[in-house]
Amino acid sequence: MRLSRKFKKLFSRDAAESLWENAFRWTHPVNSRQILAGIDRTELERLRDSYPYRPNARKINAYEDAKYWIGVNVRRAQDLWLDRSPPLQILDLGCGAGYFLYLCRLFGHEGLGFDTDEEPFFRGTTEFFNVRRVIGRIEPQTPLPDLRRKFDLVTGHRVCFHRLTRTNNGEWLEWSPADWKFFINDIRIRFLKPEGRLLLEFNPRPDGSSFFTDELRAFFNSQGARIFRWKALLAADSNQRPRFKQTRKL
Ligand SMILES: C[S@@+](CC[C@H](N)C(=O)[O-])C[C@H]1O[C@@H](n2cnc3c(N)ncnc32)[C@H](O)[C@@H]1O
Repeated sequence: MRLSRKFKKLFSRDAAESLWENAFRWTHPVNSRQILAGIDRTELERLRDSYPYRPNARKINAYEDAKYWIGVNVRRAQDLWLDRSPPLQILDLGCGAGYFLYLCRLFGHEGLGFDTDEEPFFRGTTEFFNVRRVIGRIEPQTPLPDLRRKFDLVTGHRVCFHRLTRTNNGEWLEWSPADWKFFINDIRIRFLKPEGRLLLEFNPRPDGSSFFTDELRAFFNSQGARIFRWKALLAADSNQRPRFKQTRKL
């Protein structure tokens, strides 16, 4: 990264918000080392050996690296104050290896995952973490299958279900605001309790820019979202501005 860009980044809004997040985490620290000590990391590595990387799967997502992923997911949990909120019912869309729901359980919450069954390693790790998941696929303009219950919190971390296909120039063709509107309505009406929240966390785009283009930022704002860094938080009621911090009983 060029020095001028580095310098810009240091004083950007993103840097200020990152500092804010870290400051809040310091107010309620979580002992990641203790959590890691409870995980049989040799068994995770053995699982990786039994389910080797699929061709084209990016090695950067080394999900057997428990130290890294526990760190990431502890921060996710802290940002939603899950380490100190009353027990919640949580649905994690695209739950992947299951780290987030594993941590949620340690903090006293009850979790359910939803994912495709395309990654055999995730089948192994969710079993290893004893994370329950429903197999299915999120499709544009299609209601999610009936899960016969509602949740206090629905999450989607490093969301990629909105990516449809890669175009010739390597960019993703992705959901339109109308597709997002359908999905958000479906979650609000069928999966969220009245005080429930939907948290979506997005990867940056391949060129490093934010997922939230001007159009998408305007759209998520029109849905009542609180956008913070790469996350959008939405309340069940579109007229309410949800809060990350929620420590009272729902
Ligand atoms: C980048 S991984 C993120 C995993 C996990 N949420 C995390 O942050 O560690 C994306 C996850 O979304 C799932 N996924 C992708 N497309 C999906 C779809 N259309 N419906 C349901 N899950 C999907 C993948 O199987 C994978 O588990």
